[in-house]
Amino acid sequence: MSVDLSIEIGKLSLKNPVMLASGTVGYGNEISEFMDLSKIGAIVTKSVSLKPRKGNPPQRIVETPSGMLNAIGLANVGVEEFVKSKIPFLEKVNSTLICNIAASTIEEYVECTRILHSEECIKGFEINVSCPNVKEGGLVFGNDSSAVGRITEKVRAVTDKTVIIKLSPNTASITEFAKVAKQEGADAVSAINTMVGTSFDIYSRKPKIKNITGGLSGPAIKPVALAKVLEISRNVDIPIIGIGGIMNWKDAVEFTICGATGIQLGTVNFINPFAALEVIEGMERYLKEMKLGSIEELVGTYQL
Ligand SMILES: Cc1cc2nc3c(=O)[nH]c(=O)nc-3n(C[C@H](O)[C@H](O)[C@H](O)COP(=O)(O)O)c2cc1C
Repeated sequence: MSVDLSIEIGKLSLKNPVMLASGTVGYGNEISEFMDLSKIGAIVTKSVSLKPRKGNPPQRIVETPSGMLNAIGLANVGVEEFVKSKIPFLEKVNSTLICNIAASTIEEYVECTRILHSEECIKGFEINVSCPNVKEGGLVFGNDSSAVGRITEKVRAVTDKTVIIKLSPNTASITEFAKVAKQEGADAVSAINTMVGTSFDIYSRKPKIKNITGGLSGPAIKPVALAKVLEISRNVDIPIIGIGGIMNWKDAVEFTICGATGIQLGTVNFINPFAALEVIEGMERYLKEMKLGSIEELVGTYQL
């Protein structure tokens, strides 16, 4: 019996629900040495901004129990250089490309999307309104549902490609943000970005991360991410992409049951670059074992 792993998000059809999360595989070139990228559902690029960004000074990453803190600060080459030097590689990889966009003003989000819309190999956009590691933009937007609404509406107006709004867990009600995103025309939401955390050295009494706080990711945040996906799924009729601490196929299945149409792998890519392929194989085996013909039959089938 063959199983159908394909999913639809807006106009976008993916061969399977497994994507590589923004910021954890750069622009895909490093991880392409380890895996055949054509096998995965989609690559989500590192956040691209209108102008190049140096990001935060080091130390920018520290390991924590069951996870890691990062405060990269959206370091990236900027949209112009991205088109010139990164797109040619990404065009050659036979995988679906979703471009993640970050900005510090609404106009920048729109301009960046407008420029990238004309790149044929980019099939969709993930709008990062939720980075905890930048002073401007990031959580300022992620914590203001009317700003998220305006960003969604204005980005929607310049592209008919799939638009995904990446939500922050660092808010009182993620449901409110998912509702606004849907109302203003988003095709899907992704949840979650990292959670604000910190870590101190007890001898120097200094933060281990120069930025003082960073974004917590990895298995430590999985129960939070799962609860957020379930919350959105119970309250808003919009496709959800589950992200947060997914380490193996069982985690991916758990997110799917809780309402995620697609899932993204982030921190695990640093530990096991083959994880995405293992997750695809594991999900397929599980569906066969459960005698389900497609992944769609599993989405949101939680029994409360
Ligand atoms: C080193 C690092 C860099 C990241 N950079 C970005 C980024 O540029 N844009 C973004 O939207 N999310 C970024 N993220 C967040 C991830 O895409 C993901 O939402 C988060 O890590 C939770 O998933 P995980 O627990 O599987 O890592 C980054 C995460 C890490 C660990």
